[in-house]
Amino acid sequence: MRAAFTVIALSCTMAMGHAQSASPVASEPTGTLQQVMQGILYPNSNVIFDAQEADPGAAEGMYSGWVGVENAGIALAEAADLIMKPDRVCSNGTPVPVESEDWIKFAEGLRAAGQATLAAAQAKDQDQVIEITGNVADACYVCHEVYRDAGAAGSPERCVPAPPL
Ligand code: HEC
Repeated sequence: MRAAFTVIALSCTMAMGHAQSASPVASEPTGTLQQVMQGILYPNSNVIFDAQEADPGAAEGMYSGWVGVENAGIALAEAADLIMKPDRVCSNGTPVPVESEDWIKFAEGLRAAGQATLAAAQAKDQDQVIEITGNVADACYVCHEVYRDAGAAGSPERCVPAPPL
C-alpha cells in the first residue's frame, strides 16, 4: 500500500516537473535595456578589459583573478538571453527589438565572445584573453552602431527595429 502511494506521489512530481519545463517560470523584466547594460554588461566587460593590463594570475581575493575573468565571460554569455528577453523596453520606452534578425545575430555575437572569454580564462592564458578583448569590444560595437548610437539616451532614434528582410 505504502509503495503504491510512493509511486503516485512520484508520478505527480514528475508531471509537475514536466508542466514546469513546458512553461518555465516567467518574470517581468526588472530594468530597462540601458540599466541591464550599465548593471551587467559594462562592469563585466571591464573585468575582461582589465585583464589586458593586470595579470589575473597575480590577483588575490574571492572571485577575482582568473575566476573573476571566467565569471565575467559567463555573465556576458548569459546576458545574451537577458537582452533577448521579451517585454523589456529601452530608455525611450521603445520595446527592445528582440525579433529583428540583426538584433538576434548581435546577441549571439555577445554570447560567443563571452564563451570565448571563459575558455581563455579557464586556460589561464593572458595572451588569449588580450586577443579576445577584441571580440568582446566588437560584439558591443556592432550592435551599438545600429541600435544605440543613432540617438542619445531617451531619444526616439534608439532601438528602432530593422525592417524585415
Ligand atoms: C544586441 C545589441 C547590444 C549589444 C550586443 C550590446 N549593447 Fe550596449 N546598448 C545597446 C542599446 C540599444 C543601448 C541603449 C539602451 C537604452 O537606451 O535603453 C545600449 C546601451 C549601453 C550602455 C549605456 C550607455 C548609453 O548611452 O545608454 C552601456 C554602458 C553599454 N550599452 C555597454 C555595452 C557593452 C560593454 C557591451 C558588450 C559587452 C554591450 N553594451 C553590448 C545594445 C547592445
